[in-house]
Amino acid sequence: MSARPAVLVTRRIPSSVLATLDASCDVDLYVGEERIAREELLRRVRGKRALICLLTDLVDREVLEAGADLRIVANIAVGYDNLDVAGARARGIEVTNTPDVLTEATAECTWALILAITRRVAEGERLLRAGAWKGWALDFMLGSELRGKQLGIVGLGRIGLAVAVRAPAFGMRVAYATADAVPAGGGLLPVPPMEEMSLDRLLATSHVVSLHVPLTDRTRHLIDGRALARMRRNAFLVNTSRGPVIDEAALAWALRERLIAGAALDVYEREPAVHPDLLSLENVVLAPHIGSATTETRTAMAELAVRNVLAVLSGQPALTPIPGPPLVRRRDGA
Ligand code: GLV
Repeated sequence: MSARPAVLVTRRIPSSVLATLDASCDVDLYVGEERIAREELLRRVRGKRALICLLTDLVDREVLEAGADLRIVANIAVGYDNLDVAGARARGIEVTNTPDVLTEATAECTWALILAITRRVAEGERLLRAGAWKGWALDFMLGSELRGKQLGIVGLGRIGLAVAVRAPAFGMRVAYATADAVPAGGGLLPVPPMEEMSLDRLLATSHVVSLHVPLTDRTRHLIDGRALARMRRNAFLVNTSRGPVIDEAALAWALRERLIAGAALDVYEREPAVHPDLLSLENVVLAPHIGSATTETRTAMAELAVRNVLAVLSGQPALTPIPGPPLVRRRDGA
């Protein structure tokens, strides 16, 4: 084995973080502007001991087979629906993600979207830039207030809770529906009283419904036509989790028919494509998957991925292994 293990990094990472990796590894950095092409990923992963990848890279059986020497796949993302976690572990490859470091940034982005859609910020800006603003009027661009209304959190994990603890600042009460254990604390902010309810009741009673579930077989199209029809006509849907949690065609229909008042999305079913009907609707805010996109957080995510790689390559346990099946010992004992 080479003293300097070979590592493939599928997109540019901050130079300070790259320097840490460079100090002890032979780094093969993909520098393209768009995601690495499949064929290139399959070619360049050969002979690598670590793969640092993004949520846009599908790391499936074929990639794991091509990367027969891999010891770790480090995803720079908290979500890991792009990875075959069980397949990797069965081959003795550790798989890690970047939880915690992006919680606050994603919660802030969620609130930016909640405020943008309820106060028609993006719609107003489009109108102004188009030269259609005729000046101040009492009944112009009226939005909807948050004070005294219910925020419904679907999936009360780390990010869902970080969104919830910010609700009292806007005078909102919090309801939640979750299939998982509720995290213990809310970080710097106190946890407000929160009412647990069924998803159906949450949908029927919330003014803002915010999605924070991981994408799994259980949550794919969790918000379909039936779920949207349960929501109030004056309610807003916000998604900073994963696009396929919503049936995008059904959402476009619900927005067009004014079954709900509006939606604010950061994620899409087939990124970077967006359902064409959504693009022409005024009552939806469309952000380009920027939930964790702050300089501080993206640097911290890359750092955590690199620390995971360095730990595993030096025989230490990973810092943030993805929960899942145990790592199978490799036959070569490495
Ligand atoms: C972003 O979407 C992430 O999963 O980190």
